[in-house]
Amino acid sequence: MNANAAPFSTTLTRLLACRHPIICAGMGGPARAELAAAVSKAGGFGLLGMVRESAATIKQEIAAVRAATDQPFGVNLIPGGTKPELLDAELDACLRARVPAMCFFWDVFPDVIERAKQGGALVLYQVGSLDDALEAERAGADAIIAQGVEAGGHVRGNVGLLTLLPEIASRVRVPVVASGGIANGAGLAAALALGAAGVHCGTAFLATHESYAHEYHKQRIVDASAGDTVHTDIYAINWPAGSPVRVLANSVTDEVRDHPFGNDPYSLPGEVIAEDEWGPIPKYSTVSPLRSTTGELEKMALYAGQSSALVHARESAEEVIQRILSEAVGTLDRLQAQRLPAPIRRRAQETD
Ligand SMILES: Cc1cc2nc3c(=O)[nH]c(=O)nc-3n(C[C@H](O)[C@H](O)[C@H](O)COP(=O)(O)O)c2cc1C
Repeated sequence: MNANAAPFSTTLTRLLACRHPIICAGMGGPARAELAAAVSKAGGFGLLGMVRESAATIKQEIAAVRAATDQPFGVNLIPGGTKPELLDAELDACLRARVPAMCFFWDVFPDVIERAKQGGALVLYQVGSLDDALEAERAGADAIIAQGVEAGGHVRGNVGLLTLLPEIASRVRVPVVASGGIANGAGLAAALALGAAGVHCGTAFLATHESYAHEYHKQRIVDASAGDTVHTDIYAINWPAGSPVRVLANSVTDEVRDHPFGNDPYSLPGEVIAEDEWGPIPKYSTVSPLRSTTGELEKMALYAGQSSALVHARESAEEVIQRILSEAVGTLDRLQAQRLPAPIRRRAQETD
């Protein structure tokens, strides 16, 4: 496909002023300026994953995206997983820098939506249920990201995307974006068929050259099959206990194979297992291995969606976007070719 082609124009591409309806999730840690800028430059929509980062870091990362591209981008924050004073400083840094969009996740915070809107940013809200989608829309969100239980990283709900997406799309008026399990063009085509105006992918971009994830994590994603992920709440240090994640199975998830939920890692011995540029990382921490991490990487939270089964190679962010687009066009062409020509359809319906 011609690199300048824009085969999908949707309410999402018009809202976000981007060429392709593909958002790269604001993955805290891996999605720094290098990845967000590469995605936006390639016509998708890049999000900086800035959960619990300082205002100074956020300012610096926003400036780095702008130095690399003039295309629009956004910043992801998690209000419910951040102390109020830090959240206040993070929002202030984003809005002072006049970021085009904010993306929030987990519990819905109407006051945060209102503040971001008053600051001139578009608001995307990732939810895992119809109730949260309706609440976010009522509070003024400009787009809802529907996250299915297949998703990698923190998983808000319990419903598969195949059902959650059309349920939400039929009940909200703003554009709905599909999240979880999508890493190829058939996934984009399916999401559009189910009522989405675009897709939001994390795992598909995790193993790209521009991602700040550690090489070990990237290779584990490329090597994984769909059944290799585990849905558990054992990784919760830094988050409230009882916040489920989807990670690749490892020696830590093996310890709780019989009780993946109902764990309180704050009550377990949390010896230090690794270290990165921000300091020591205890066992059960929600921090995932990054380029600068050393230590027992196998024991860390190796976030991965079931879509890791669809990631087969180490690519650039632009290659991921171009591949998803051309595969989606091919999928739709193939479906169209499978439709019976109208006269044959009529004959098939004739009874005698
Ligand atoms: C490594 C990783 C880190 C993530 N970190 C965040 C985060 O900081 N904020 C957020 O809103 N979502 C985060 N997510 C979840 C994504 O927003 C999204 O729901 C998920 O990636 C979709 O499923 P997929 O991985 O199959 O594409 C993360 C996901 C991954 C894989």
